[in-house]
Parts: sequence; C-alpha cells; structure tokens
Amino acid sequence: MESSVEEEISVEDEAVDKSSFKRCNQIDFYRRQKRLCPGKSSYRAFMDTVELSNRSVKFQIINEECKVPLLVELYEIEGNIFRLQVNEIAPLKPRYQVSDVLIKEPASLRLTILQKDASELVLACSNEDQQLHITANPFQMQLVSKDEIVLSMNTNDLLYFEHLQHPPQIRKSTLQEKADGSADSFKGYQEDLGLWEDKFGSFLDIKASGPSSVGLDFSLHGYEHVYGIPQHAEPLLLKNTSDDDVYRLYNLDVFGYKIHSKMGIYGSVPLLLAHKPGRTIAVFWLNSSETLLEIATKAAVEEQSSSALFTSTAELSRTPDLSKQRVLPQTDVRWMSESGIIDTFILMGPHPFDVFKQYAQLTGTQSLPPLFSLGYHQCRWNYEDENDVKEVDAGFDKFNIPYDVIWLDIEHTDGKRYFTWDKKKFCNPDRMQKELMKKKRKLVVIVDPHIKADPQYAIYLQAKEKGYFVKDRTGRDFEGICWPGLSSYLDFTSPDVREWYADQFAFKNYKDSSEILFVWNDMNEPSVFRGIELTMQKDAVHHGGWEHREVHNLYGFYQQMATAEGLIRRNGGLERPFVLTRSFFAGSQRYGAVWTGDNKADWSYLKISIPMLLTISVAGISFCGADVGGFIGNPDPELLVRWYQVGALQPFFRGHANRNTRRREPWLFGKENTKIIREAIKERYSLLPYLYSLFYRVHIAAEPVMRPVWVEFPKELKTFSIEDEYMLGNALLVYPVTEPKATTVSVFLPGSQEIWYDFRRFIQLEGQGTLKIPVTLNSIPVIQRGGTVIPLKTSVEKSTEWMADVPYELHAALDYKEYATGELYLDDGHSFRYLHEKQFLLRKFTFHENVFSSRCADENGQFHSKCVVEQILILGLKKQPSSVIARIHDKKVKAVAFTYDAKSSVLTLKKLSLNVSIDWDIEIKVRS
Ligand code: NOJ
Repeated sequence: MESSVEEEISVEDEAVDKSSFKRCNQIDFYRRQKRLCPGKSSYRAFMDTVELSNRSVKFQIINEECKVPLLVELYEIEGNIFRLQVNEIAPLKPRYQVSDVLIKEPASLRLTILQKDASELVLACSNEDQQLHITANPFQMQLVSKDEIVLSMNTNDLLYFEHLQHPPQIRKSTLQEKADGSADSFKGYQEDLGLWEDKFGSFLDIKASGPSSVGLDFSLHGYEHVYGIPQHAEPLLLKNTSDDDVYRLYNLDVFGYKIHSKMGIYGSVPLLLAHKPGRTIAVFWLNSSETLLEIATKAAVEEQSSSALFTSTAELSRTPDLSKQRVLPQTDVRWMSESGIIDTFILMGPHPFDVFKQYAQLTGTQSLPPLFSLGYHQCRWNYEDENDVKEVDAGFDKFNIPYDVIWLDIEHTDGKRYFTWDKKKFCNPDRMQKELMKKKRKLVVIVDPHIKADPQYAIYLQAKEKGYFVKDRTGRDFEGICWPGLSSYLDFTSPDVREWYADQFAFKNYKDSSEILFVWNDMNEPSVFRGIELTMQKDAVHHGGWEHREVHNLYGFYQQMATAEGLIRRNGGLERPFVLTRSFFAGSQRYGAVWTGDNKADWSYLKISIPMLLTISVAGISFCGADVGGFIGNPDPELLVRWYQVGALQPFFRGHANRNTRRREPWLFGKENTKIIREAIKERYSLLPYLYSLFYRVHIAAEPVMRPVWVEFPKELKTFSIEDEYMLGNALLVYPVTEPKATTVSVFLPGSQEIWYDFRRFIQLEGQGTLKIPVTLNSIPVIQRGGTVIPLKTSVEKSTEWMADVPYELHAALDYKEYATGELYLDDGHSFRYLHEKQFLLRKFTFHENVFSSRCADENGQFHSKCVVEQILILGLKKQPSSVIARIHDKKVKAVAFTYDAKSSVLTLKKLSLNVSIDWDIEIKVRS
C-alpha cells in the first residue's frame, strides 16, 4: 500500500488536475436549480396561518405546483439581526440543521403586526425605523429601514426547496399500480432515479434522502460592493458570476490551487458582506452542505416614494411616476445549497464594525492566541530528525533571528500514525522538547484526521472498536487513501468521538508530548486521495445517520474544535491552546488559526494572498496567514524577502515549504538577504505589543486584526476596491511589494483630513490620495495614521518569552488636532487567567493638549507588570518644547530628558522608566 501512496504523492506534486474537480454544470443540484425561471415564483404565503409569539412570527407558504407546505419562521434578534428559517412542515424525516456553529440560541425580540390582510403582512421591529414587509403572492419579503428597502428576498423568484420524497422503488410500485408500467411512467421513474444518484467519473453518489436542495435570492438595494464568502483565490471585491462560473463553497484539497478561480478550496464561511457609504450589511447562510453563490450587480430603477416598498400585484400594475424614479446600484445574490434547510441571518450593521460584532454575537469571536503563536514559525515538510531540528534552531541564534516555533510535518511520525514518533529519526522527542523549552521555544506537530488502517495501531484499534469512524453507505467503516495508505476517518461530528479524541492529547496518552507541543490539523476537508474530488463520498454516513453531504464543510471545524479542547484539557483547563487548521467553517475562529494551504512560490500567489487573507478576516477569522515563500516550488531570493516583509505584518506568520523544494531557512540566501529578512522578523517582534493588543480587540470586540482599507474609511468610495494595501489594526497601513524589481509603488492614502507618517522614519508624508513612494529591497512601506499610539518593545530577543520584561516604546502620531490615542493589552501571554482571574491589564494612552497620559482602560484588570515605558516618540509635534515633566499618580514630578527634531517635528522622550501598569502624565511645555 505504501508504494501506491507514494505514487499518489507524486501526482499531487505536479499541480492541480482540474478534471478531478467538478465544473458548475457537473453539479446536479445546480443544474436543477437553474431550471427555475426568474419572474415565475410558485410560492405563495397564507396570511391566515400567521402566528405571532414572543420569539418569532410563523406562517405557511406553499409551492403551487407540488402543493407541499413549508413553514417560514422570522425572528428579530437582539443587536439588529434578522433570521429567516424555512423548513418543511412535515418532512418524511428530519432535515439537517447545523449545530455547534452558533455559540448559543440567539435571543429574539418580539415582532409586532402592523398590518395584515390576505395579500400582505407588515411587521414592526424593536427598532422603530425598521419594518418587515411580506407579500403573499408571490411570496416575497423586504427589510425596510427608514422607508428605504435595504434588502429583499425572493425578489427574483428563486426560492427553491426540494421536499423529501419516498425513494423511487416505492413510487415505482405505486406508478405500476396506477399505469401498469406504461412507457411514460417508466421514463418518469428513470428520471426520478437520476435524482437519487449522481455520477462523476467513476464515482457514484447514492442519495439516501433523494434530492433535497434549497436556495433563495436576495437583492441588496443600493449596493454594488460585496465581500466575504472565503475561501477562494480571488480578489477582495466579489465579482459578478456567470452560469458556468459561480462561487463554490465546498472544502477541497486543491494542491497548487489556481488563482482567480471561484472553485472551492480548503475552507468555507458562508458570510457575504455588502457595503455602501453609510451602511454595511451581511447575509449569513447557515448551511454546511455544498453551497453555490451567484452574484449579479446591476443598476436598478427604484421609486422614491415609500409606497414603492409594496410590490403587491396592484402596486406593480399601476403606471410608475417617472419623476419619482431614481437609478441605484443593486446586487442580487443567489444562494444554493445541496441539502439542509434555509437558515439565514441578515446582519443590519450599519457600520462595518457593527456587522463584525453581529456576526461574532452569533458565531463567537477569535480566541485569544498564546503570545508565542504571534511570533515567527519555522516549518518545512519535513525537518528530518532531531539533529535537523537542533541545527535549524541553532541557526536562528547564530544569525540572530528571533523565532518561536519549529514545526514537524507528517514524516516525524511512525508511518504516518499520528500521536506517534518515528523512533529512528526522533529517538528522544522528550530531550528535543526539553532543549527547545530551555530556549523558550515551542514545537508544533501535525495531527491529521485520517487514521491508518492498522490493527497494531492503538488509535485505530480503539476507534474501530468504539465505532468512531465515519461509515460508508453500507455501514462499514469508510476507507480511503491518504498519507498512511488505507485509512479510516474519525467522525468528529460525534460528541463522543470528540471527547475521546481530545483525550488523546492528554500527556499520559500522547507519549513524549510536553506542554510546549502544539498542534496542526491538516488534510481535514477531509482529503481522500482517490476519493471523489479528492474528498469523502457524500453518501458516507456520520453520527446520527447524517450523510456526509450534510456536514461536509464542517468536518475540519469539528476536528479543530476537538483538538483545541484536547490541548486545553491536558493542562487542566489552565493553558490556552494553539491549533492551526487547513479546513474551516463559520465559527472556526473560536479554535485557533487557519492558513491558505498549498500556494506556490510565485509573485502572483504573494499578491493574491492579500485579498485572500482580508476576505478570511472579514469573515470572522482573524488569525490567518499564507505560507511565507510559497509552499510549492523554489522562491527566488527577492520573492522570499518580499514575502517575509509582508508575512511579518500579517496575523499568522509561518515560513513553510514542500518536501521537494530546496532548503530555505532565512539565512540561506546570502548576507544581504539574511539581513533584510532578519530586520523584517525583528520588526514583527518589536510590534508584538501592538499585535497582541489587536488580538485582544478582536477577541473581545470582533474587530479584525488585518482589515481592508474600506473598513477604516467606510465613506470613501475609492477605498472600496483596494486590495493591494491593508490596515493592520486602525493605526498601520501596509503596502506589500508584490512585483519583482519594484523601485516605486503607488500607495493610496485615504481620508481628506488624515495625516500619515512613515512608520520607520517618523516623518509626515506629503500629499494626499495616491502617492508614488520609492522602494528598495530593504523594506516595504508601512505608514502610521495620525491620531494613533502604537506600543512597541524597545529591543528584540530570541523569542517572545525572552521579551516579557523588555521595556516599551510608544509611538504617538498626531492628527490635525494634535491628538492621538491607542491601547496596550497585557497578560501572562499563555494562560486563561486573563479570563477566570481577571489577570490582565488594559491601558489607554492619549496625547491631548500637549499632555501624554497613561490610564487604566478596564478597571476589572488585575494584572501587574514590572515592565516600564522607556521611550515615547511624538510624531508631528509642530512646536519646540521648552521643558517636559512627568507626574506619576498625579503626584511625583520629575523632569524628562528629551530631544526635538524641528525638521521632522519629532519629539523623543527618553529614559522615562514609567511603570506600564500605573497612571501617569507627561506634560510638554512648548515655546509659544
Ligand atoms: C498538505 C499541507 O497543505 C502542507 O502544508 C503539508 O506540508 C503537507 N500536506 C504534508 O503534510
């Protein structure tokens, strides 16, 4: 078996074989849904069935053709969110509903009926400005805010709901009884049968519940900019789709995925954001089966009078008053899923940060990473043996480059049996970890979800005996090929399996693991080498009898959940876990980090990594990164340098390389390149206080760490399509250099009143809008926004842990009002004491009227640090100071040493030695 896997690997090494993956017209539920004609909805609502409760409003709709009634349930959820559920009233068997993604059942508010007759229903919301309008025939809904339609549903009559039916065998006998097997009924029978089976190449998918696809269209009124729905190797701004090129959300292992393609890759978050000046909204489509999305932006004619809100037949037939018409952009979005129910949330914003909060209210925020995991990670497939690990680790010290984590890929195991060690190459893993521990560094090892089918392998044996593997449609353990050869796949959708799996990370179970060992979950789409589209058959069966088709996009989510739980438990719940996953879904942010999989060492992949990471970030997962250098192939030194420079300013920062590539540790590309890479990594380490504070913000308030520029400048149209630069928090604008041999770059500086400063030279940038900035290989442009204070460390050590006591430096960049503010978050960097014992510190720094002050920003915080603020830079101070004094706790006064550079307007306050945990003010007297 091993040899065939080797073959499989070499096929993988070549590149993506497109014929392995379905094109749109090969997706059967897409073909069926495409038969619907816009403008011919068969759905009608029955207003006499309306039931109002404290939680929701329910009513029935019916498809006039098949007469199957569906139940519509509408909720207003606290925090400006609406939810719409559509399900069969009496399905033949329950339809799958996603569990575990929402952090709790959302609390709903009471809607009230404003108006109701046979043709329409108007509901008032808790926010008096908002209403829901429902028309009966055809069944349509509109969300209205301040007399403007924000969003409408089924406007294009594309509501689609395949009700569950008896399998054709049963119906065949009924047909025979009726028509005695006439040619017509036999043809019908064959067509029916086709709906219950799907062929792709040599693969046959037999659908236990038959066709059960759902779909709905949304019109987003006034919107032409839409974002989100990761993961695709596509631009930030979503594009219009065509019939044979729609966005696909289906988690797949696509080695060297093609860029500028809407095909599904490793992860899926069915969240689409729409933005226009003055309002951001989002649609969250909670469905874990294969999902497709069509997008069409157009100019739509709308009537200005509020009566235009009613689109009943009577309204439509009257002659429009042209003088009251206006042309507005509109984006129509059509969601289609293979199965499940329609369960969708409308997040009403209005600010982009409100949308992020609303989404986090449903699916949770980013977990707070342990500080070490924000350092640099060195990975390769593979670090060969203990000696290799030792040498690479020593290399970082020798070349004076900080790093925190070394990674071991699949070759560290005994024959790809996860939770074991290759005894020859890693004969003393305990010693290896102790050595790393002494250096205050960590180890990450890979743990994939497939389990080698080997009765000698304890994990396999136990899982088999307990019935913990996914089953095939005949009830046997599903078997597929992956790295170890023939394997079975743990069924992470089962709570029992997750419990048991989490236990495997206990120190007593995972031999030779220590508290510095953390985990990487790979191949969890799941990847099945000879499987259909390189993944699991949709007719495989999970816990509860659910077919794989229902839960496919959740498989990786559940594995990461169980792994994170295991790491938390092994330390009695005290320590924060770190788990990187390749596959993800909505809510994965709660369990750790994600990366963009098998990219290539090519400039185009460096470039596309920016919109890819921004898209993942706006979909709630802030802890994300791309393999620095590009996984496949050998980057030339310039590309590698550029990749380090941008990777250092992204949330998850890991160098990684495929096994057939040349070694590429940062010091292997000559003295000059080593120096530049060192500077980039060091800059990251000096910025860690800022980055960690940003992670705290995303953890408590869902503010993405890496942000599209439009999120910070939501009124500025020019920013809406920017994807070659981004904001790191609200203070830093980063412009990655993604072209070879660049000598200048065009950076767009938004905001008419903003002042922007060169982050490294502290000088104010002259000019507004697009600036041509000269670049050398030494660095990429990083620009600090006026009005912000950034906390940094004054020096960099071997790893984050060595830096705990290193003093701080604050960079205050003044805005046009000579004001600046910023935050610093601090805790022990590794435990949950920040949560359970309030062992954290949140400081707020402000520069206002020539006083720089440090204040507590959260009185609940109990953490004390001995660390001091040693130096403060004030950028953009126009007047020469005459004296500077510091007041601690409003009392003690001491003179402060300073220098002032009038040319650059930079004031440097030196040797401050002011404790970071306490209140103080620094008063700057200026010559008038
Ligand atoms: C695929 C992953 O994407 C890659 O990062 C890893 O090195 C290989 N699997 C081997 O485990």
